[in-house]
Amino acid sequence: MKQRLQQGVRIARTQLRQTKKWVKPVVVLATVLACATAAAQLAPSEPPVPPVSQIGPQDQVNLKGGNQAFARLLADLLAAFLQGRTGFGQALPGLTAAELTAFEEGRVEFTNVETPAAGLGPIFNGVSCIQCHAAPAIGGGSRITVTRFGRVENGVFDPLDALGGSLLQPLTIFPQLHETIPPQANVVAERISPPLFGLGLIEAIPDATLIANAAAPKPDGVKGRAALVTDVVSGQTRVGRFGWKAQQATLLAFSADAYNNEMGITNRFFPNENAPNGNQELLRRFTANKGIDDTVGPDGRSDIDAAADFIRFLAAPPTLTKSASALTGETLFIQSGCATCHTPTLRTGPNSIAALDRRNVNLYSDLLLHDMGTLGDGIGQADAGMREMRTAPLWGIRARDRYLHDGRAHTIDAAIRAHEGEGSVSRDRYTRLSPRLRQSIVDFLGTL
Ligand code: HEC
Ligand code: HEC
Repeated sequence: MKQRLQQGVRIARTQLRQTKKWVKPVVVLATVLACATAAAQLAPSEPPVPPVSQIGPQDQVNLKGGNQAFARLLADLLAAFLQGRTGFGQALPGLTAAELTAFEEGRVEFTNVETPAAGLGPIFNGVSCIQCHAAPAIGGGSRITVTRFGRVENGVFDPLDALGGSLLQPLTIFPQLHETIPPQANVVAERISPPLFGLGLIEAIPDATLIANAAAPKPDGVKGRAALVTDVVSGQTRVGRFGWKAQQATLLAFSADAYNNEMGITNRFFPNENAPNGNQELLRRFTANKGIDDTVGPDGRSDIDAAADFIRFLAAPPTLTKSASALTGETLFIQSGCATCHTPTLRTGPNSIAALDRRNVNLYSDLLLHDMGTLGDGIGQADAGMREMRTAPLWGIRARDRYLHDGRAHTIDAAIRAHEGEGSVSRDRYTRLSPRLRQSIVDFLGTL
C-alpha cells in the first residue's frame, strides 16, 4: 500500500512538471483522486507479492461491491471537476442512456489502478491507463514516454522480438525480471502519450476514405500512404489510424494491446505475458499456471471492452472562438500546405451508434503515413517504415506542452520547424513568414 501511494506521489510529481500552468492544479487533483480510487480498491486485501519460490497460481482480485461503488463515485467526481474546469473529457453529445452508462463504467476501468493480484506485470510501463492519459482531463495525454528499441542492419529494421523488443517494459513486480535495452539494439526512440479525445470519431472514418485520400495527387512532393495492418479483433486487414505509426485500426485492439504491453494484463486478444528481454524460462518461473488476467464476464465483455468504450465515447476537444490573428493563421495554414497532410475535416461513415453516424471530424490529420526524413523515429512498426510517421491530429493541441512523437519540441514553432522529408516544402513556407504571421498560425492551432 505504502509503495503504491509513493508511486502515486511520483506520478503526481511527474505530471506536475509536465503540464501548463492552468492544467497543473487539475492534474494534481486528478492524480490524488486516482490514487484515492486505487486505495479504495486496494485497501481490503492487497496480497503481498510472494517470494520467488512460492510463485504459483495467482488469485484474481474480486472487488467488493462497496469498493466499486466508492471507486465509481470518485471517478465521477474527478471527471465532473475536470470537465467543468477545462471543457475536455466530456461524453460525445447525443449518446443513448446505455451508451452513456458504458462511457461512465469504462471511465472507472480506465482510472482503475491494477495490482499484481489483478494481473499487473510481471513487467510493465504503468499501473493504470490514467497514469499516462490524464491531462487536461481523464482520457488526455501526458509527458510520460515509453521506449522502443531495435536493430538496423543494411537498412532493415529488426524489432529484436526474441530479446523483448520493440517495446521496453522497464518496471517489474519482481526485481529479478528487470528488462533493459539489450546491447544488440542500435536504435532507441521515445514515444509520448497522446490524448484520446474524439478517437471514437476517428475509428468511425471508413478505410475507403483514407485509401482514396492516399491515392489522390498532392502538391509539394507530399505522398502519404494508408497503413495496412491486421486487426487482432476481426482478423481482417484494415487501415491503421491509431498510434504514432498508425499501428492499430480499432480502439478495442489498441486497448487490448495497451492492457497487455503497458500494464502486463493478458487478455483474450493478447494471451501471453511479455518475457523480460525475451527470457521465457525466467518468465515461466514467475508466472507458472497463471491464466488470462482480464477475465470475460457472462456478457462476453471484460476490462479491455470497457476501456475501449470509454475512449470511443469521448467527445472531440472543444474548440475556441478564433481571434483575428487566428483567422489569418487559418488562411496561412492552408496556403503553406499544412492542410495537405493535416486535413481539417474527415467524415465518419454510417454507424450503428447515432453519435458517430456520418459526422464531421475536425481532426486536422489525413491519418496517413508520411516519409518525414530525419523526423522519423527510426523504428519499423506494423506497416510503417523507419522514417514514416502518421500525421499527428492537431485538434486539442492547446492542452499540451510537449510536441512531436518523442516530445522533443517544447513549442509549436519548434515542432513545425522540425518537419523534414515530405513536410519540408511546407515547413520552408512557414519559416519564411514574418514572426507575426508565424504566430498567427500558432494562434490558429490554439483554437482547434
Ligand atoms: C506508460 C504510459 C501509458 C499507459 C499506462 C497507457 N498508455 Fe496509452 N499510450 C501511451 C503512449 C506512449 C502512446 C503512443 C504509443 C505509440 O504510438 O507508440 C499511447 C497511445 C494510446 C492510444 C492511441 C492514441 C492515438 O492518438 O492514436 C490509445 C487508444 C491508448 N493509448 C489507450 C490506452 C489504454 C486503454 C490504456 C490502459 C489500458 C493505456 N493507453 C495505458 C502511453 C500509455
Ligand atoms: C507531409 C505531411 C505534413 C505536412 C505538409 C505538415 N505536417 Fe505537421 N506533422 C506531420 C507528421 C507526420 C507529424 C508527426 C511528427 C512526429 O511523429 O513527430 C506532424 C506533427 C505536427 C505537429 C506536432 C503535433 C503533435 O502532436 O505533437 C504540429 C504542431 C504540426 N505538425 C504542424 C504543422 C504545420 C503548421 C504545418 C505547415 C507549416 C505542417 N505541420 C505540415 C505531417 C505533416
